[in-house]
Amino acid sequence: MNTALIILAAGMGTRMNSDIPKVLHPLAGVPLLHHAMAAGATLAPERTIVVAGHGAAQVARAAQGYDPETILAEQTEQLGTAHAVAAAGDALDGFSGTAIVLYGDTPFITPETLEKMIQAGAQHDVVVLGFHAADPGRYGRLILDGDQLTRITEYKDATPQERAITLCNSGVIACPAPLLMSLIKSVGNDNAAKEYYLTDIIEIARAKGHSAGVVICDEAETLGVNSRAQLAQAEATFQQGARANAMADGVTLLAPDTVYFAYDTVIGRDSVIEPHVVFGPDVTIESGATIRAFSHLEGCHVARGSTIGPYARLRPGTELAEDVRIGNFVEIKNATIGSGAKVNHLSYIGDATIGNDSNIGAGTITCNYDGVMKHHTHIGRDVFIGSNTMLVAPVQIGDGAMTGSGSVITSDVEPDALALSRAPQIEKPGMARRLMDKLRAAKTRQQRGS
Ligand code: UD1
Ligand code: CA
Repeated sequence: MNTALIILAAGMGTRMNSDIPKVLHPLAGVPLLHHAMAAGATLAPERTIVVAGHGAAQVARAAQGYDPETILAEQTEQLGTAHAVAAAGDALDGFSGTAIVLYGDTPFITPETLEKMIQAGAQHDVVVLGFHAADPGRYGRLILDGDQLTRITEYKDATPQERAITLCNSGVIACPAPLLMSLIKSVGNDNAAKEYYLTDIIEIARAKGHSAGVVICDEAETLGVNSRAQLAQAEATFQQGARANAMADGVTLLAPDTVYFAYDTVIGRDSVIEPHVVFGPDVTIESGATIRAFSHLEGCHVARGSTIGPYARLRPGTELAEDVRIGNFVEIKNATIGSGAKVNHLSYIGDATIGNDSNIGAGTITCNYDGVMKHHTHIGRDVFIGSNTMLVAPVQIGDGAMTGSGSVITSDVEPDALALSRAPQIEKPGMARRLMDKLRAAKTRQQRGS
């Protein structure tokens, strides 16, 4: 079945009270819009059209960031959902498959539900996604006659009897594109909101002898984000689902409510995630890894059996091989660390490669930035970097080499060599005592004087 997605994302989102277009507020690490696009993408649509208005340039960038083939349709004035779909008309030119209307601010519609709507298209010309609302509030109400949908009444225009109906409109609609476009042409704005309602196409379709039906999904799928409170609620809903999925996949979460996932976090079986761990986008953790408390990971891959943290930060481009140990207060960015290597305490490793079984002493820093450019540090295998070594990149440390604690390493070190670069130690017998006596005497004089 050929499909085209029309994702409505032109609304201002007044209740967000924000300078950022509503659909660009992040949920699980990516814009709300990406969630709607991802659900729709599972149908392998022939075209994806995003209708943008408020902050159109930003919305366009985000949409094309998700899928460079996205077609942008601009709706300069927001005159209603039917008007928004009409704005996608040109982009649908020559397309005769099924158009599916989604909202960019509704992130939880599942691929299964969209699939059911496509199936229902075999019986009905227009298919509307409905749900039984616990609190129907201001949703549009679905008026059914047997398995036929008669019309949708917007809350503002509904009679008290209609308002008593709890079967509500999610906003998602599936309809052959040419029919959708022809129905839209007949929609007027003679209603309480003076808007062109997409929902009016049902009554118009039925009057023209077309069939309209309803697919019902769980209310949780239809949660739309209109305010910061709803954004927080959506985040909580997402996190709850992600935690449950991780545990079902065989991951131990010691305190599930304190662990935060991104939309694409992947964690292997028998990994253990301690309390208060945050995963940003693009993290893959293999089996049997341990992520200890208060660690923050994004854009990284952690292989089997590695231990991270507590209090570690893995930034984008971090690639850890098997059985690596990253300890407390260690930050790693754009670095590849070989199997069995250890960076256990208080270090910054950026733009670096570290070979297998090397040991990086406490307080080591790869000085990767000269104020203008970033440079690479290469550390071979079985290297011992002494505590508080500054590795001024670009620099290479050969296999089996060593650096003395406190060294500032500015040139390459040969394999198996020991590099030291610190002032030789001098010792003055009795000097400490003499110095202290002198200082104490000075303090006593000062106190007497004042
Ligand atoms: C709409 C439905 C209602 C349904 C509810 C579900 C209509 C007339 N009403 O109401 O039946 O129960 O959604 O949440 O369709 N948008 C545009 N351009 C516009 C207007 C809206 O892009 O000119 C976008 C908005 O950004 C939003 C979506 O369409 O993502 C829905 O618009 P909104 O104004 O929130 O519709 P509701 O009044 O909530
Ligand atoms: Ca809404």
